[in-house]
Amino acid sequence: MRRDGRLRLGVLASHGGSNLQALIDAAKDPAYPAQVVVVISNNSGSGAMQRAAREGIAGVHLSSVTHPDPQALDRAIADTLQAHGVELVILAGYMRKIGPLTLRGYRHRILNIHPALLPDFGGEGCWGRHVHEAVLAAGAQESGPTVFLVIEAYDTGPILAQARVPVLPGDDADTLAARVLKQEHKLYPEVVRRIAAGEMDLDKVAGAG
Ligand code: GRF
Repeated sequence: MRRDGRLRLGVLASHGGSNLQALIDAAKDPAYPAQVVVVISNNSGSGAMQRAAREGIAGVHLSSVTHPDPQALDRAIADTLQAHGVELVILAGYMRKIGPLTLRGYRHRILNIHPALLPDFGGEGCWGRHVHEAVLAAGAQESGPTVFLVIEAYDTGPILAQARVPVLPGDDADTLAARVLKQEHKLYPEVVRRIAAGEMDLDKVAGAG
């Protein structure tokens, strides 16, 4: 399926898209072994869609507005990924659950990033500020992003990589989120690089998980 030697990425994002941007920027180095070929967003006005347009990358709005029937939406997402020859699906701040058809079509080929050290501080409802508030409330000394494989249940797929940052005295959810996000922008492109370069085998990781 590889057309020009680089692994083809499809990114799903709902909001700002700073992780999307980190991947786009990484791929500006011709030696980087992957490239973003399509961005799908459930939010037509999202920063992620604007970034795609600015970078000349296909941006597709798919949501309950364009497809009120969840099965039709799932199919449209899977079809769009296939139509762009996507080999690896990257969730980057995507606030919707991936449907069964897309999950089956991209088995062990969907990655997500969570802004805390899973398996703690994850699961349904644990997103955005809530994650960092939970970390602070628990008195944790460290936090940091987790990249993991997406399976049906929220935030429980095999962990691919983590980075650690200290929780500092005086932190609030915003300062902690900013420190973690900085690491996300390094970790996500690095994990994708490892996969694309054949240094990380997703089937093996999934089998072991
Ligand atoms: C990140 O913190 C990521 O961990 C979480 O959603 C946020 C997305 O940020 N899943 P951005 O849209 O990439 O800036």
